[in-house]
Amino acid sequence: MKKQVLVTGGTGYIGSHTVVELQTNGYEVIIADNLSNSRIEVLEGIKNITGIEPLFEKLDLSIPCEARKIFEKYPNINSIIHFAASKAVGESVGEPLKYYANNLNSLINILSLMREFNVQNIVFSSSCTVYGQPEKLPVTEQTERQEAESPYGNTKTICEDIIRDSVKAYDGINAIALRYFNPIGSHPTAYIGELPNGVPNNLIPFLTQTVIGMREKLSVFGDDYPTKDGSCIRDYINVVDLAKAHVVSIERLIENKQKSRCEYFNIGTGEGYSVLEIINSFEKATGEKVPYEITGRREGDITEIYADTSYANEELGWKAEKSLEDTLASAWEWQKRIVN
Ligand code: WQD
Repeated sequence: MKKQVLVTGGTGYIGSHTVVELQTNGYEVIIADNLSNSRIEVLEGIKNITGIEPLFEKLDLSIPCEARKIFEKYPNINSIIHFAASKAVGESVGEPLKYYANNLNSLINILSLMREFNVQNIVFSSSCTVYGQPEKLPVTEQTERQEAESPYGNTKTICEDIIRDSVKAYDGINAIALRYFNPIGSHPTAYIGELPNGVPNNLIPFLTQTVIGMREKLSVFGDDYPTKDGSCIRDYINVVDLAKAHVVSIERLIENKQKSRCEYFNIGTGEGYSVLEIINSFEKATGEKVPYEITGRREGDITEIYADTSYANEELGWKAEKSLEDTLASAWEWQKRIVN
């Protein structure tokens, strides 16, 4: 009997790439998603890659009776990967209650139902945003978390604490929180990728939409930061590499390999690149020109962050493999394929 994994938010960007890797590794996947920030056609994209259309339930996990349906219908769920959350940093500043209600209630419902239906393993989609602007770089898992820059970031910090306290109080829950740095790129088949709603907030989708002619030019939000070229530095991680980290985390939980029942891992490349370096790498990787202009800083941006990934490398046995140029080229291949 294949091990069944519930992937909440599984038609989303990172979720869909993780479903592909789970299926490729022999897991049976059930997706629960409310399609508020993704499209049902993603299921076809997944099937084009793996030949298997995942089981799918459209529901809102922040509503207890809806979340319950998934556990009642699928009594053999072995583990859960929880992606489902609202994630637009800027939007969360204007709509904090929507973010706290959705992101916290969804997790609380999942954890309560795990207890009731004896589902023991959860991998949680966390974010490097919990570190704020770290004093010391690269950040390790022991780096002090700081006041989040946005309500979105704060929901990640609070959710980590809800999980920590639940693991402590309830024997039947074991957890791994993966703190993502900046996920970018698309599946090499270009059957799945990032589908931003409306005007993209994130750098890479805005950049590729500019190059394909949907946007006039890319704004580089500031070149007066204390960095090598004045633009902000981030740790850009290939989304397929990131997806693979979820499979090794599920395996770690199922095979009881945890050192403690609530673990945290930084999932990045360990390299920091500036915005201007990203533009140059994209142009080199694709031969395309990126029209851009330097504008003012964006509220809430931190100057620099990149990961110390040694713990994930050694303890999880996971390492980012794809090069930045291959990753940027995959984002461009995907952009050329989708018609918005
Ligand atoms: C990257 C860099 C911008 C757009 C956010 C969330 C984080 C995670 C990833 C979910 C920054 C610059 C961007 C543009 C630009 N999300 N930029 N022009 O802000 O590092 O992280 O997304 O988990 O939690 O905080 O990502 O892609 O928005 O920005 O110059 O049009 O690109 O200033 O330096 P960010 P980003």
